[in-house]
Amino acid sequence: MKPTFLITAGPTREYLDPVRFFSNPSSGKMGYALASAARDAGASVILVSGPVALRPPKGARLIRVESAQEMYREVTRCYRDADIVIMAAAVADYRPEKCLSKKMKKGRSALSLRMVRTPDILASLGEKKRKRLLVGFAAETGSLVREARRKMGEKNLDMIVANDVSRRDTGFGSDYNRALIIDKKGTVTRLPRMSKDRLAGIIVRQCLRNF
Ligand code: CTP
Repeated sequence: MKPTFLITAGPTREYLDPVRFFSNPSSGKMGYALASAARDAGASVILVSGPVALRPPKGARLIRVESAQEMYREVTRCYRDADIVIMAAAVADYRPEKCLSKKMKKGRSALSLRMVRTPDILASLGEKKRKRLLVGFAAETGSLVREARRKMGEKNLDMIVANDVSRRDTGFGSDYNRALIIDKKGTVTRLPRMSKDRLAGIIVRQCLRNF
C-alpha cells in the first residue's frame, strides 16, 4: 500500500495586532515541490501550509494555517493518518506574548516587546513517532552538519535536510537549493545546487526506500 505523506510548507505569522506580524521570507516552494513529488509517486498527500503565493498542488489535501500554534494543531490532528512526515515549514520559534485586538498606536519612546516560545512541532511529533518516518529541515547560517545532527538527535528524526540560508543563490525564496541530507546511520550526502523540484524528487524517493 502507498503511504500517506504529511508535509508542511511556508512561513508562519505571529501577530502582534490585526495589522502586524513576525514572520520570515520562506516562499513555501520546497514544501509544495515535496507535495507534488509525493503525489507523482502515487502517495496520498496532506499539505499543511502557512501563507504563501503558490498554486496548491492538484490532488493534495491542502490545509491552510497562519500561526505556529495553528500549524501545531492541524499537524497533530493529521498525524494519526500519516506514515511519512516532512516538516519543510519555517516555523517561527517566538510569538508576541499578547496579540492586541486593536491596532497598536505609536508612542514617543522605544518599544519593548515580550516574545514567548511557540511549540516545537517536530520535537513533539518525534516523541510519539512509533513506526512513522520523520524528516526535518535545518535552516542554518553556519555549522551546517553539526547543527543538523543536533536537531536530528533532539527531535528523534530519521532524516534531515540541511541548507545554508545565508546564500543568495539558493534557499529562501529561490527556485534552487543546495542541500545536504543526513540519514539515520549518520551518512552525509552533499548534493549540488539543483532545482527544488529535483531535490524534492530525491527526498521523496529516499523516504519511500526507507519506509
Ligand atoms: N520546527 C518545528 N517547530 C518549531 C520550529 C521548527 O516543527 N517551532 C521544525 C522545522 O520545520 C524544521 C526543524 O524543526 O523541520 C528545524 O527547524 P530550524 O528552524 O532549522 O531549527 P529550530 O529547531 O527552530 O532551532 P534553532 O532556532 O535553534 O536553529
